[in-house]
Amino acid sequence: MRRISLLSALLLVLVLVVFEHPSTYAASGPPVPKVKAAQSQSTATLPPGYVGSQMCETCHTDIAHTFKNNPHTKMVFLHGDNDLTCENCHGPGLAHVQGGGDVHKIFRFDKATPKQIDEKCLACHATSHPNFMRSPHAKAGVSCISCHSVHHSSAPQYLLVASQPQLCETCHSDVKAQFAMPFHHPVPEGVVKCTDCHDVHGTFNPNNLRTTVDQNRICTQCHTDVRGPFVFEHAAVKGVGCLGCHSPHGSQNPRMLNMPNVNVLCNQCHSPVAEGTFHSMGQGSAERLPCTNCHTEIHGSNIHPAFIR
Ligand code: HEC
Ligand code: HEC
Ligand code: HEC
Ligand code: HEC
Ligand code: HEC
Ligand code: HEC
Ligand code: HEC
Ligand code: HEC
Ligand code: HEC
Ligand code: HEC
Repeated sequence: MRRISLLSALLLVLVLVVFEHPSTYAASGPPVPKVKAAQSQSTATLPPGYVGSQMCETCHTDIAHTFKNNPHTKMVFLHGDNDLTCENCHGPGLAHVQGGGDVHKIFRFDKATPKQIDEKCLACHATSHPNFMRSPHAKAGVSCISCHSVHHSSAPQYLLVASQPQLCETCHSDVKAQFAMPFHHPVPEGVVKCTDCHDVHGTFNPNNLRTTVDQNRICTQCHTDVRGPFVFEHAAVKGVGCLGCHSPHGSQNPRMLNMPNVNVLCNQCHSPVAEGTFHSMGQGSAERLPCTNCHTEIHGSNIHPAFIR
């Protein structure tokens, strides 16, 4: 059905030029519909080798129909409304059309290398995603269209191939398992997104982690109560950071701690019996209780230097 012949396509060009050229109307009576006048004018300004989106639409009617709601329709504003939408991505289409839809004379994303694809997209999106080519994704050959689909997106936002976290889990099944642990960030529940912490388009940090002045900010943007500053800081929080004590995805342990026993966690850095008056003065029972029973304000306190309420 889509295989409209070369002849009819060329005829259409003629029709556009002859009957919709503003000057043709200028002499005769009927007022020119504004849209058509603008389109024919823009057809005239097309660079050599290009045919304009209207031409593509005559044969690719399904694609053209669904494309009407695509954010990329905003492209027309990029080059002075010259109607190049399709060809901005697929390259000049004249040879393709003259060849009656010759598939070897048009840029085909499904036949291109990841690098070629990324370059196409980054021609416009490099400003918002300047670090993509250095990202672990690009280096592993995961291209823009591994995650985005321009024409067949099934997600409500950002032209994604699938919504998060399903999108990510298809490739990162080990991470999916971490979020299935008893204590986890509510990512499967849809409350937190992978991209709250990661920028999959590349950053200057390991693990694609979002870059912030203070790396704890990735966490404290949501957990404002542990952010501080406190009168009495727990040096561990600023020193090793949140990940010194917590697993970011999920854990077998309550509070997503990365140790099953709180006291073992603390004793990595502390030997309280030796250092503390309270602990050394016959308070042996303290070492058997969870440290956080008494040191409740573990992230820092404005009241007590030993983080006791
Ligand atoms: C004369 C009709 C015609 C016009 C006009 C036309 N195409 Fe095509 N196009 C075809 C045919 C026929 C095919 C062969 C594949 C198919 O079955 O869709 C094709 C294939 C393609 C493919 C490859 C599809 C694939 O499955 O890999 C792309 C991309 C494409 N066209 C883009 C465009 C763009 C962009 C324009 C406008 C610049 C355009 N076409 C204009 C007829 C046309
Ligand atoms: C590993 C998956 C993945 C890859 C690869 C990927 N993206 Fe994205 N992209 C996403 C996700 C998820 C979002 C939405 C969440 C967000 O803001 O990060 C998004 C959002 C976007 C947005 C809209 C919001 C914004 O931040 O600008 C643009 C534009 C975009 N991507 C372009 C690209 C381009 C261009 C490439 C290739 C150079 C690319 N993406 C590669 C997953 C990906
Ligand atoms: C933002 C870039 C972009 C624009 C604009 C664009 N395409 Fe595509 N096109 C793609 C990508 C990427 C694919 C690969 C499949 C996908 O991601 O949906 C594709 C695939 C296709 C295919 C192959 C068949 C298919 O269903 O996947 C055809 C045909 C096509 N595009 C035609 C068009 C036409 C006609 C227009 C204008 C109405 C257009 N494209 C606009 C990027 C673009
Ligand atoms: C010729 C320039 C151009 C090219 C090439 C281009 N885009 Fe875009 N893209 C745009 C414009 C313009 C918008 C709309 C921006 C806006 O809404 O502010 C956009 C929007 C997007 C969005 C955001 C959609 C949303 O819902 O907000 C994504 C994702 C995206 N593009 C991905 C891609 C991918 C993937 C490619 C390559 C296949 C690509 N773009 C190629 C210009 C381009
Ligand atoms: C609450 C923040 C946060 C969320 C949400 C999050 N991550 Fe992570 N992720 C991290 C941090 C922090 C690291 C670094 C861990 C380290 O250094 O030990 C990491 C590491 C990774 C790694 C590399 C190490 C590994 O475990 O393989 C991958 C891949 C990853 N995350 C993918 C994901 C995916 C996929 C999702 C969503 C399903 C997700 N992350 C959600 C914070 C998060
Ligand atoms: C098409 C498969 C694919 C998809 C989809 C995908 N990734 Fe990846 N991801 C990879 C590959 C391959 C690598 C590089 C090898 C590795 O480190 O595992 C990678 C690397 C990463 C890393 C860096 C790991 C490191 O060791 O530095 C993070 C973080 C990550 N991905 C998160 C995500 C998130 C979040 C999403 C969803 C928005 C996602 N990925 C979607 C395949 C994918
Ligand atoms: C996008 C917001 C967001 C970000 C970013 C975030 N978290 Fe969370 N975090 C949550 C939510 C929501 C919960 C679940 C709270 C609940 O169930 O009461 C949670 C739960 C937790 C819990 C368990 C709390 C409990 O009461 O059991 C810990 C520990 C935690 N996060 C640490 C971190 C760390 C460490 C980081 C950074 C790597 C981080 N969070 C980043 C939103 C976030
Ligand atoms: C020195 C170890 C350590 C560090 C570093 C640490 N935490 Fe915790 N965190 C804990 C312990 C232990 C608990 C459990 C407290 C309890 O059970 O009463 C906890 C509990 C939490 C909780 C659960 C609710 C609450 O406020 O008690 C959240 C959320 C949390 N931490 C976030 C963070 C964030 C975000 C960071 C980084 C800014 C961080 N933690 C750094 C040890 C630590
Ligand atoms: C990664 C190492 C590390 C871990 C794990 C850690 N701390 Fe600390 N903690 C420190 C450092 C460093 C100081 C500052 C010591 C100093 O100023 O002499 C500190 C200070 C303290 C102080 C105040 C001490 C004082 O001298 O006033 C208390 C109380 C404390 N930690 C309790 C805990 C508890 C309870 C845990 C387990 C939930 C824990 N810490 C886990 C490194 C750690
Ligand atoms: C029964 C309550 C209790 C428990 C349980 C407890 N502590 Fe303490 N800890 C205290 C008190 C009280 C102090 C003294 C505070 C002061 O000096 O005013 C203290 C002091 C400290 C100090 C600071 C030492 C100093 O010189 O003041 C550290 C470090 C410390 N505890 C670590 C721990 C660790 C690690 C654990 C778990 C293995 C733990 N505490 C368990 C009550 C407790």
